[in-house]
Amino acid sequence: TPPDLSDALDLVRDVADFPKPGVTFKDISPLLAEPTALGRVVEALAAAGRGPDGAAAVDTVVGMESRGFIFGAPVALALGVGFVPVRKPGKLPGETRSVSYDLEYGSETLEILVDALAPGERVLLVDDVLATGGTARATADLVEQAGASVHALAVLLELSFLPGRATLGDVPLTALRTV
Ligand code: PRP
Ligand code: MG
Repeated sequence: TPPDLSDALDLVRDVADFPKPGVTFKDISPLLAEPTALGRVVEALAAAGRGPDGAAAVDTVVGMESRGFIFGAPVALALGVGFVPVRKPGKLPGETRSVSYDLEYGSETLEILVDALAPGERVLLVDDVLATGGTARATADLVEQAGASVHALAVLLELSFLPGRATLGDVPLTALRTV
């Protein structure tokens, strides 16, 4: 990691015992408040969607509600491609496709509009943190069910003590930092 990017990632703050005891929350707020740092992070994430010539190698960026929206939309702009939101249930108008996945307690569902992606599109997934991989795997499933392909997942932070990378299967991962 180049020093400028490392300095930017250092702005992500650890918050102990949030949202519940024993969990260390990765708070991106201090990073978002610094435009130079935010710009460096966005360009580093966008690099995961560029070919060797520096041009976009993807057709679309998909971001997962909520924090994937914050990084995904500027990454799409940096690449010169469109942005598609994957949302929590009941937020998207029209016909949706949905995938549910298990959490430690209960389950979560994510949705995408059925016509948001065309078959054959190449997609870059963007989120802030890869933890268990449940969110990313469900999103990759939504993309693949649309007949599109996942080029890669780009995240700021990978939590290596959780099985995110294994959960992703053959989806290539770009993590700006692994902790
Ligand atoms: C957090 C984070 C990732 C996900 C990672 O989102 O932003 O999307 O968890 O965890 P996983 O790899 O175990 O799925 P959260 O569901 O807390 O919602 P938010 O983005 O709306 O804050
Ligand atoms: Mg999230």
